Amino acid sequence: MSTTDERLSSKLELRESKGLLRQLSAESDLIDFCSNDYLGFARSKELMDKVSAELKKELKAGGSTGSRLITGNSQYAEDLEVFLAEYHQAEAGLIFNSGYDANLGLISAIPGRNDTIIHDELVHASVRDGIRLGLTKSYAFKHNDLSHLETQLKRAENAIFVVVESVYSMDGDLAPLKEICFLCKKYKAHLIVDEAHATGVFGMKGEGRVVELDLQSQVFARVHTFGKAIGGHGAVVLGSSNLRDYLMNFARSFVYTTALPKHSLVWIKNAYDTMSKINYKKLITSELQVLFKTKIQQVVSSPSFDVFSPIISINIGDSMRTKSLAKSVQKDGFDVRAILSPTVPMGTERLRICLHTFNSKTEVGQLAELLIKHL
Ligand SMILES: Cc1ncc(COP(=O)(O)O)c(C=O)c1O
Repeated sequence: MSTTDERLSSKLELRESKGLLRQLSAESDLIDFCSNDYLGFARSKELMDKVSAELKKELKAGGSTGSRLITGNSQYAEDLEVFLAEYHQAEAGLIFNSGYDANLGLISAIPGRNDTIIHDELVHASVRDGIRLGLTKSYAFKHNDLSHLETQLKRAENAIFVVVESVYSMDGDLAPLKEICFLCKKYKAHLIVDEAHATGVFGMKGEGRVVELDLQSQVFARVHTFGKAIGGHGAVVLGSSNLRDYLMNFARSFVYTTALPKHSLVWIKNAYDTMSKINYKKLITSELQVLFKTKIQQVVSSPSFDVFSPIISINIGDSMRTKSLAKSVQKDGFDVRAILSPTVPMGTERLRICLHTFNSKTEVGQLAELLIKHL
């Protein structure tokens, strides 16, 4: 074994000994309480049929054949960007291949060398990687802590960029966006909001929390991803036309990659058309969320219980116990997954439960009872 192989093996063994080894698992027949397919679009036969029918007319090549700036662009992609910007009430939008790419490109390209990035300590890895790729200094503020955000704003220099998620992906709680906007205005900071888990869930037509709270004019950039409630793949960065032109020129994760194929774009368009007629909040609030939380609150509490959210996080705080709890629930037919460090900070390992429009009242009730039994 070479020294490199030895190093890789010993790091894997260390992870395994802590119960933190990541492994792939193929799809299961269990009842889905863990995917980000909040609206059930990824499994929707109706949507698949619509997309297939449109592709029969639209599809001229299997792949996009190049980057957007060379041969991978299409009128369809540009029209979709205009549609997305209008839908979310922004001036312009630029599609990226994933939410990861969107955050990476945006965060690494926009702030300059002497500027300051301030981010919530729980922002997604893609934002952190964007910061690592750029040359800008950054400060974290304690999760959803407005007074700590203000402390960090006071020490920031030059142009300031504040980055938050509107719904936190692993905690399921919500950023206090109105108050954050107020502070950003006070300190002339540019606010960037990752709406990955709010897309399709918040707003009358799933436009996200920024539109729901009517804060569009106060936000510098928003990221909406299509791999979650939209059931497909890709993401859009929304902001000014100037921002769009800049990203098209300087965001490396946009410039140096093959564009999304046509079928992804057709999926996104059709999913949005369907989403405009669905209200996740109406479907979930009365039927499922209240039922689940009322029951589970008898044994545990969590900040995600106090707000309306598609994600319910149950903190266990120990990797082995979290894994064994998930396994017990899976044995009874419910797909609930353990979220372990380093995805979440060590000691905050948890069960992350997602409520979908396709989960029945009976299933939700049964899952709550099971969790109560095992917790
Ligand atoms: C908050 C947040 N932002 C960005 C991403 C990345 O999105 P994508 O899966 O489209 O790369 C995720 C995905 O896990 C996320 O949870």
